[in-house]
Amino acid sequence: MREKLFVGNWKMHFTLREAKAYFEKFLTLQSKNPLSNRIIGVAPPFTALFYVKSLLKATYIKLVAQNAHFAEKGAFTGEISPVMLKEIGVEYVILGHSERRHLLGEEDEFISKKVTSVYNIGLKPILCVGETLEEREEGETLERVSSQVKIGLQGLKSLQPQNLVIAYEPVWAIGTGRNATPEQAEEVQSFIRKVLEELYGKETALEIPILYGGSVTPENVGELMQMPNVDGVLVGGASLDPEKFYKICSIEV
Ligand code: PGA
Repeated sequence: MREKLFVGNWKMHFTLREAKAYFEKFLTLQSKNPLSNRIIGVAPPFTALFYVKSLLKATYIKLVAQNAHFAEKGAFTGEISPVMLKEIGVEYVILGHSERRHLLGEEDEFISKKVTSVYNIGLKPILCVGETLEEREEGETLERVSSQVKIGLQGLKSLQPQNLVIAYEPVWAIGTGRNATPEQAEEVQSFIRKVLEELYGKETALEIPILYGGSVTPENVGELMQMPNVDGVLVGGASLDPEKFYKICSIEV
């Protein structure tokens, strides 16, 4: 059985004080109704990672980083190494997020180096892929997503399927309030599963969780999660409200 994952991506939000208030609320909600059969992760900004780890001690919530460099150390001003992330208890790392691709110019080859390094160090990459509106309108969605997956994973010749996560995040759906329909998500995510099958064989491909991301809310998460190849969600905006994120995480799986 594939794992079900719910990951909140805080992006560049929350000071330490705000992070503390967030978890006071979230942990109170979950203590009344613990969530089992699923993995819940939160990706705070780098400055809050270590502090959030201390707040989450004795909970089942996983610590997720929003990015990493591929090098273990070196002269890379402003970057963070996967070794440093591992040391403080990070378990997953979001890589290739569309904001980094489009606002910061990260390309497939560069993302691929990070995926390989993060994976080899023993962290779990969450590789984000997705087409722009223009690519969708030109009928290039599957081609674009296929090359993002293939290049992104080119350094991983064999893998433990439970140590990798793919997130399908159509660029036009991120932060826009316009989520993909469940059918649109399923079309691309079942296609991603086929690409994974080509790369690693059927058995392994069936074990890799594929998340959907892009304007996920408590209202639409249920129908998205009904789809056979939607194994969880990567949530931006709605994860900033602990009640909304709790609602999203607590749907039946
Ligand atoms: P959103 O962001 O939920 O605000 O659309 C999703 C993401 O960027 O991962």
